[in-house]
Amino acid sequence: MTNPHFLDPDWWRHAVVYQVYPRSFADADNDGTGDVRGITEKLPYLADLGVDAVWVSPWYPSPLLDGGYDVADHRDISPDFGTLADADAFIARAHELGIRVIIDLVPNHSSWEHPWFKAALAAPPGSPERDRYLFRDGRGEHGELPPNNWGSIFGGPAWTRTTDPDGTPGQWYLHLFDISQPDWNWANPEVPAMFDDVLRFWFDRGIDGFRVDVADSMAKHPDLPDHVVNPHTGFGSNDKEPGAPHWDHPGVDEIQRRWRAVADAYADTELGGRIFVAEAYLDPIERLVEYVRPDRLHTTFNFDALISEWSAASQRAVIDKTIPAHESVGAPTTWVLGNHDNVRVATRYGKPTTGRDYSVAEPLESAGDPIELGAQLIAMPTDLAIGRRRARAAALLELALPGSAYIYQGEELGLEEVEDIPEHLLQDPAWERSGHRVRGRDGCRVPLPWSGAASPFGFGVDAEPWLPMPAHWAGLTAEAQAADATSMLTLYRTALRLRRERGDFRTDALAFHPLDGGDVLAFTRGDGTLVVVNFGADPVTLPAGEVLLASADLADAKLPSDATVWLAV
Ligand code: GLC
Repeated sequence: MTNPHFLDPDWWRHAVVYQVYPRSFADADNDGTGDVRGITEKLPYLADLGVDAVWVSPWYPSPLLDGGYDVADHRDISPDFGTLADADAFIARAHELGIRVIIDLVPNHSSWEHPWFKAALAAPPGSPERDRYLFRDGRGEHGELPPNNWGSIFGGPAWTRTTDPDGTPGQWYLHLFDISQPDWNWANPEVPAMFDDVLRFWFDRGIDGFRVDVADSMAKHPDLPDHVVNPHTGFGSNDKEPGAPHWDHPGVDEIQRRWRAVADAYADTELGGRIFVAEAYLDPIERLVEYVRPDRLHTTFNFDALISEWSAASQRAVIDKTIPAHESVGAPTTWVLGNHDNVRVATRYGKPTTGRDYSVAEPLESAGDPIELGAQLIAMPTDLAIGRRRARAAALLELALPGSAYIYQGEELGLEEVEDIPEHLLQDPAWERSGHRVRGRDGCRVPLPWSGAASPFGFGVDAEPWLPMPAHWAGLTAEAQAADATSMLTLYRTALRLRRERGDFRTDALAFHPLDGGDVLAFTRGDGTLVVVNFGADPVTLPAGEVLLASADLADAKLPSDATVWLAV
């Protein structure tokens, strides 16, 4: 399928973006781990699917102690994933096929294997090398206590003490995430300057944009003060209330403006200005949309949509709050059902509790900690038949809404969270750091099944995949689903084709329809497409119109429970 919107400078306003988690996408060199050549080989599949862009999670050299979000070198490709030449070939092929390329920028922290962190450890306290990170003396008589009470998102303290060359205990360094992910000191001008170079390095290679990891965390209160204690962890809370010293702190805005200027300087190139999408779990929405003002980032993930429960009232509440808030700053809304940090949608929607009810008054604390939410969900039983049915309906809801939509790899195959990975194979740092309380995010990162009847299902040839793949995925391979008119893959392909063909989906016009209410969401897009979602237990009568696509069988002119239909009206 060709992409008529490839060179549209506003491509990102309506784009369907497919997230590739490189470790788990396709293993061309058959070593059990995905790689860049694997992604390139599957680009025709993504072009057939009909996506406008791919976002590739970190592919940089990394000890992979946080799945690659621990970057040791921002200007190279991990030898596990290939070479810079492989990346160039991938970018060129993607563009040939009309697909834009977004990669990850991880600006809050580096890996402890980054040369600047190694230099910092080798240099004395107070040195310029140490000043690129957040080193501090400890509290207590002998500096034996962490400099403040902050806690790591992955559990335990956010500080680790170093050892001086003579073997005595030294200063502490800050890491909001894993011990292997020291936080940068953005107040040191060398850090923003280095990141400007990183942006240009990749933009010059043809990258169309960056997904900005934890885009709300770079700036910190200069005094690094204690924070109110979270009673569950005993450490300073990671809630992001206004005024928090480590999240959404003043200074984040200036950093984002600086990046925007770098990206806008490419406006006159063939590919046009480059774009950003922010990862920020931030409440309330008025704070989040500050990030997508015209001089800051372009889009931001709509995690409310991801976290929302499966009910008409909650989904309507999310639509009602996010679209006008984004319109108020001239930015498109995004829609997202899953990613590499969250329980897969087919599993989440098969749980007795499917998420947060946004139709009731919104609590002010942080919009969600995916690891905690995941731990709560994983503890509940799953009805996968219901979950898959709802995931189909949710896909047709997501893809019908105005703005840009994200597909996390495997969502188009209806893959579920693998909830029974043996404990000794779990790799998420949250598993160790939580004292084995939280299993973490490996269950949504299992390699993709492409073809064949047995593991590794065409992921590689015969190498053992880095996480085990369930035997029953034989029925869910891309190959099996491509041949099945009723499959999830066929549903996604048809939906993306219609989304591209029908002008209604390229407008921002959305009007709720009289049928809306109770357990039903019904809205028109443009002036010719009606979308109806039935969240209730009972079938509802279909309104007049020609059926374009439905997520379930429509018997007796009824829309069954947990189903969506698109109608031409
Ligand atoms: C983001 C990433 C997540 C990672 C964390 C630290 O939330 O999506 O995978 O663990 O940042 O970089």
